[in-house]
Amino acid sequence: MNVIETAVDPKSKAYRENYEAMDALVDDLKAELKKAREDRSDKARNRNAELGKLTVQERLDRLLDPDTPWLEIAPLAAKGMYDGRVHSAGSRCGIGVVNGREVMVNASDPMIKGGTIYPMGVKKALRIQTIAMENHLPSVNLVDSGGAFLPMQSEIFPDVDDGGRIFYNQAIMSKMNIPQITAVMGLCTAGGAYIPAMSDHVIHVNRTGAIFLGGPPLVKAATGEDVTAEDLGGAMVHCSESGVSDYFAEDDDHAIDIVRDVVRLLPDNPKSRIPTRPPAAPLYDQKEIYGIVPKSITTPYDCREVIARLADGSEFLEFKELYGPTLVCGWAYIHGYQVGILGNNGILFSDSALKATQFIQLCDRQGIPLVFLQNINGYIIGKEYERGGITKDGHKMVHAVSTATVPKLTVILGASFGAGNYGMCGRAYGPRFLWMWPNAKIGVMGGEQAANVLVSVKNDQMIREGQGPLPQEFKDAIRQPIIDEAEKEGDAYYSTSNVWDDGILDPARTRDVLGLALSVTLNAPLDDRDQGHGTFRM
Ligand code: COA
Repeated sequence: MNVIETAVDPKSKAYRENYEAMDALVDDLKAELKKAREDRSDKARNRNAELGKLTVQERLDRLLDPDTPWLEIAPLAAKGMYDGRVHSAGSRCGIGVVNGREVMVNASDPMIKGGTIYPMGVKKALRIQTIAMENHLPSVNLVDSGGAFLPMQSEIFPDVDDGGRIFYNQAIMSKMNIPQITAVMGLCTAGGAYIPAMSDHVIHVNRTGAIFLGGPPLVKAATGEDVTAEDLGGAMVHCSESGVSDYFAEDDDHAIDIVRDVVRLLPDNPKSRIPTRPPAAPLYDQKEIYGIVPKSITTPYDCREVIARLADGSEFLEFKELYGPTLVCGWAYIHGYQVGILGNNGILFSDSALKATQFIQLCDRQGIPLVFLQNINGYIIGKEYERGGITKDGHKMVHAVSTATVPKLTVILGASFGAGNYGMCGRAYGPRFLWMWPNAKIGVMGGEQAANVLVSVKNDQMIREGQGPLPQEFKDAIRQPIIDEAEKEGDAYYSTSNVWDDGILDPARTRDVLGLALSVTLNAPLDDRDQGHGTFRM
């Protein structure tokens, strides 16, 4: 395979300016992640300590094998929403290693409003279950949750993708033979109670853990009965009388030991095999990506420079190098796993869309995971291109992406606009994981373009109605709010807060995260893939 020769000059002014800009974005990201992990009220900290409970971080530290990677999912979910302190949407979730096995972990954080579930908490829980189902990951829940955040119950309860779906998915996961292990580590009320109830294995902590459909205040209000939480749904009740719980634990530490034992005793799940070779580091420093990616997402750059810092040995066998040059496709290894990479080098034209279609089909046939490096403003528009069939060629690419069944991983390096998002495996196209870089932007189109479209529509309407062209001050009044809104809602943090992605990545960690994700995807079988597709419009 060819080694990508870098053309980057780390001494150039542009490189240094880009580096500084990305470095600052990564510093902000680290500060946001730290705040999400650590910003808790003294009242909540004291209450947790008074009850003798471990913090969520301590629980994770004890659960996961020492010195193993932790791939956190959506750590900045709900950022800036509600009172601004429902960090990570109230739960720490991610993929970690327990007794050598990759598992999905969902740990409620009792120090955020009693671990209650906000609308974004529901969305995140459903995303976590989707990842577990698609990748066949045993799931560990460390539950310490007062159930629904009651002031927002209408946004959590009634609809198809609301709270009830979590328990529905639990039944489906059990049927799929995806083990679910739940430790009851606090008062688990109502919705919180169904998580253990729907699990395959339930570990119950004495004194601090309880499961009930209605807590003592509700029981008192409904029946007049005075009862303590422990008498109503404590470990002794559920381990010795009701049979709701399976394993009695003295405290948090003991419960986590039992969780680890249960994981250890799970039947083996041999991983799927894809072509591999011994991993090798790229030839170039991954931090150089900071200097390569321009400050403005509208400035073009060669995505091969990024690939050179993701691929083992910076080796890349490029497919159809001279055809459809605005899309770079080719074969590489990442942490020893063979992948097919698609990276944007400009707008998508008919030839680049056709090339992508063929390449995706090849990877799908050969069982090679696909990695999409998105930096795309969309498909080319205009009379010439419509006549040339850009719409049907774009369709072929979108069709191939939709129907490919090999694991797909997407990283949004910069722009993610319009149908380009679709063709390059945006969220709706089923990538097993999708991340954004901190500079990335997402939307139907950029704010300027959206504003121009709407001004032009309004202008045409006014002329049609005989009121003459739109005066400049009206144009400005229409434009600015649209630009401001698109700026805000197209931002990577807005995306991650809404759980449109699985997290924002430090670009220098991208290779390692892709390697971990590839390993995770192989927990699911590859050989039951249906490699068919529908009708390609010719
Ligand atoms: N909805 C909204 N807020 C809730 C809540 C709920 N279901 N349950 C707890 N909270 C809030 C409390 O008001 C408190 O807020 P504050 O920090 O602003 O004062 C915070 O969560 C912590 O609650 P607190 O009772 O002080 O902590 P705790 O550790 O002693 O107990 C719970 C936590 C969750 C066990 C307990 O609050 C409880 O039983 N809540 C009711 C649960 C319930 O009935 N849920 C029904 C859901 S369908």
